Amino acid sequence: MIHLDNVNLGYQHETVLKNINLEISKGEFVGIIGLSGAGKSTLLTSMIANVTITGGPYHVLGNNISTISSKKLREMRSRIGFIFQGYNLVNRLSVLHNVMSGMLKSISIQRAAIRHYSNADLEKAWEYMETVGIEQIAMKRCDELSGGQRQRVAIARALAQEAEILLADEPIAALDPKSAVQVMDILWRINEKYQVTIVSNLHHIDFAKSYCNRIVGVADQNIVFDGTAQQLTKETLERIYQTGMNNHLPSEEDTIPDTWSNIPSKHCPNINQFNPIPKVAA
Ligand SMILES: Nc1ncnc2c1ncn2[C@@H]1O[C@H](COP(=O)(O)OP(=O)(O)OP(=O)(O)O)[C@@H](O)[C@H]1O
Ligand SMILES: [Mg+2]
Repeated sequence: MIHLDNVNLGYQHETVLKNINLEISKGEFVGIIGLSGAGKSTLLTSMIANVTITGGPYHVLGNNISTISSKKLREMRSRIGFIFQGYNLVNRLSVLHNVMSGMLKSISIQRAAIRHYSNADLEKAWEYMETVGIEQIAMKRCDELSGGQRQRVAIARALAQEAEILLADEPIAALDPKSAVQVMDILWRINEKYQVTIVSNLHHIDFAKSYCNRIVGVADQNIVFDGTAQQLTKETLERIYQTGMNNHLPSEEDTIPDTWSNIPSKHCPNINQFNPIPKVAA
């Protein structure tokens, strides 16, 4: 699904990550960790070709994005849901309209312009909102929502888009512990039941360890760890966070307040209490 072969990533005047090799397959839930400024967002946004890419090839959904045409790039981006830091919702519009905007490729521009949606479109949007638990606030404007609610609108919009890949940039950074768990649970369910590939930057190591089946650690302009939570040793964390034995390491106790230490495991039995989520793209 995503394959970087000796790729350099950065911006016009700066190479942030060098000689990156990474392969992500369908259905993986990958957490990217690293210090602030290490290049996590650069790596994530490169997957929609939003940064300067040299070297390669760099394949995403069958396209070499270092040489892709703008038409093909638009098509490819429509198959990827991106949950931005800062949400990127249209604040003056309702939750429902923001979710519906995810369906724009299946709704004609004319119908979208006059906000005339078919019953089938509305039913689908309702199902997506129920999946993430925001149906009660469907008619609220997005600028009246809390951070956790906004984040869930962004996820419902990505579901409406029938995204094959979901990229999430610090999806829980601004959330309280309960909302953070809700959002991660939703992402996990989407990944587990429907095999949507998820790549997410995460500041909280415990969340990465609880929810991701693979963790990628970024430091020194490169990927310095790529493995499972079980393989993530204290030494590796020290390397990623560039701390010596006596320095501050964002350990489980350090990174999260006490109330966060009981993150429900992804195997929690509550999973069955959720409504079945609608089928997203295979
Ligand atoms: N749009 C941009 N133009 C130029 N340089 C940028 C841009 N965005 C980020 N950078 C630079 O790229 C480097 C990596 O930034 P990036 O945002 O990828 O880090 P990060 O690991 O996501 O950090 P954080 O945890 O703070 O979000 C930094 O040195 C940053 O200044
Ligand atoms: Mg970032």
